[in-house]
Amino acid sequence: MRITSSPDNLTFEANPFYTVLENLLAAGVRHAHACGGNAACSTCRIMILQGSEHCRSMTPAEKKLAERLDLPVHIRLACQTRITGDVAIQRLVVDSEDLEVAQHQLRAHSIGKQVPAAILSASLRGTSTFDEDHFPYDIVYTLGRYFTQMGTLIQRYRGVLTSHNGFKSLALFGLKNPEQAARQAVQTGLALLRSVADLNTTLRELSYPQVSLTLGIHYGPTILLPVDPQDPERVSAFGRSVNVATWLESANVELNSQLLISAPVYQALREHLAHVQVHSLKPSPNAHPIRVYAVDPRQAPLPEENVTPALTDAQVSGWWETLREWLGAWSRF
Ligand code: FES
Repeated sequence: MRITSSPDNLTFEANPFYTVLENLLAAGVRHAHACGGNAACSTCRIMILQGSEHCRSMTPAEKKLAERLDLPVHIRLACQTRITGDVAIQRLVVDSEDLEVAQHQLRAHSIGKQVPAAILSASLRGTSTFDEDHFPYDIVYTLGRYFTQMGTLIQRYRGVLTSHNGFKSLALFGLKNPEQAARQAVQTGLALLRSVADLNTTLRELSYPQVSLTLGIHYGPTILLPVDPQDPERVSAFGRSVNVATWLESANVELNSQLLISAPVYQALREHLAHVQVHSLKPSPNAHPIRVYAVDPRQAPLPEENVTPALTDAQVSGWWETLREWLGAWSRF
């Protein structure tokens, strides 16, 4: 039986009594194995490109680490894997940078995962009219107040701030409690709008230009990746759902609205939302139009507790139907 190893471009005879790691080392390949082959570091990870049927089942130790890191089935630990026939593998930790990433993922307990979440995309607009040469202390103070309040509100509604890019921010809700995700995100959005209205009162008193806040909220599968080696809990969000939330946020400009939510979010909260305006928009020139919902910024805060009671089966299937419709529309985007 033979092992073909990438990126080494090497094929060699394998000893069936050895693990893949032992075979690689015997063939002169310097494959990472920081913990010495004890299923404790994951640096020996390999991707099985061909011949997965020739890989023996996971040892209990490999299973434990794979569960801890959410490793997909085609990623195996070379130090624990024995083979019964030809396999082709991709070595995944080949240099010191890979090694650092693997160790960071081990600390974060994840190589990244997909979870359902409500995504709130926020953009503070109008700040470019401030005088950059003589940026006044009052403005710095006032904008500082916005960011402080944003952090406080996101925390209050159990969200996680995942990124800031200038005056654009992204936060996730419902990571621990998905059935509350839509409520928490919309609550935060409404509270942020009230906070910016207060901010504008201050700016008016100071005779400075006012700002406006635009928000987009969507619920759907979201890819989370740990990004900060110093803080394993810190994640960044990626994927189509994030794109939808960001698109909703920017669509406010065209609709002259402030808070746009997607159909899945609306379905979850419809009985608590008053004065919602429905619009039909195309995410791109060739896409089908989809319904988006503009929430009136004067909407009263949603009830704090149990606003989203356990959904009935009919509601759940309606919700998922809508989500599917959305994903279908977005796949053509
Ligand atoms: S060498 Fe550490 S897990 Fe395989």
